[in-house]
Amino acid sequence: MITGKFPALRLRRNRKTDWSRRLIEENNLTPNDFILPIFLIDGKNKKQSIRSMPGVYRYTIDKLNYIVDSAIKKNIPMIALFPYTESNKKNALGTEALNENNLVCKALQIIKRKYNKEIGIMCDVALDPYTSHGHDGLLQDKYVLNDETIKILLDQSLLQAQMGCDVLAPSDMMDGRIGEIRKYLDKNDFKMTQILSYAVKYASSFYGPFRDAVGSKNLLKGNKKNYQMDYRNSDEALREVALDIKEGADMVMVKPGLPYLDIIQLVKKKFKIPVFAYQVSGEYSMLCNSIDKGITNNEIILESLISFKRAGANAIVTYFADRLDKILKD
Ligand code: PBG
Repeated sequence: MITGKFPALRLRRNRKTDWSRRLIEENNLTPNDFILPIFLIDGKNKKQSIRSMPGVYRYTIDKLNYIVDSAIKKNIPMIALFPYTESNKKNALGTEALNENNLVCKALQIIKRKYNKEIGIMCDVALDPYTSHGHDGLLQDKYVLNDETIKILLDQSLLQAQMGCDVLAPSDMMDGRIGEIRKYLDKNDFKMTQILSYAVKYASSFYGPFRDAVGSKNLLKGNKKNYQMDYRNSDEALREVALDIKEGADMVMVKPGLPYLDIIQLVKKKFKIPVFAYQVSGEYSMLCNSIDKGITNNEIILESLISFKRAGANAIVTYFADRLDKILKD
């Protein structure tokens, strides 16, 4: 596709001025590209900081209005709810997941009652916030059981759908759970509840600060390598996505983000379905660190987020979502 050469051709001509650079831009960010994660805690009137994630907070339910209002004002299309579960509510079976008065269920009801269709709500379907061992499913001899876990995920999915969840996001990497959840939702008249599959979720060390945020860090025994993906693999990622699409996923997630841009691109090119990227907690903390240390400025955030768009992501889960209006303006 080379149509000329130097000196007749000078690619720098198009880059000379700001207006020209804006004219030829291939990718950009708008508020529609962001999903805002929100951490929930028990209690009243609390906005609690999280040591490993500067600028991110855990909110009590009565404080939700304030953050959801501001997300809607910023035109963010969807929020994602994550509960910090007190240790006395955790057990080996993660039964708190099925408590209709748990934090996520309460938040869903309150937000849906007040805002209805003004903003989408996504919820993880997985047991890790609720298990005393920190794993995403039932544990037997250090192995996370697949089919037995799915049975619980079905009830968790239906409960969250009943409480008003718009987008169920199974994040546990059990085999076959998308198909089973889809069938169960349809059978129970939740045909229109969307499923965003964390289809490609790697067993990553970038999740550390998140586990701190939801209170599972010190509980987690071992690692998640017998269910989350091996980061040495990419063909396997395509098999995971192909299966989840067949089973009925409406959208898929690749996670973490920045170290996996190649995977985002492969998935988008091959399947042409909505692909989301998750800029995870470890990525967030690293970017915050480099800014704190004065190594760089907000531009680094934009650069990393645009790279997801360039790779082919439709939207990005990012802990910066609520501050991007300011960052974009700077
Ligand atoms: C739960 C879940 C995790 C994250 C989102 N959902 C952690 C994990 O799988 O251990 C991580 C998000 C982040 O690090 O920002 N299954």
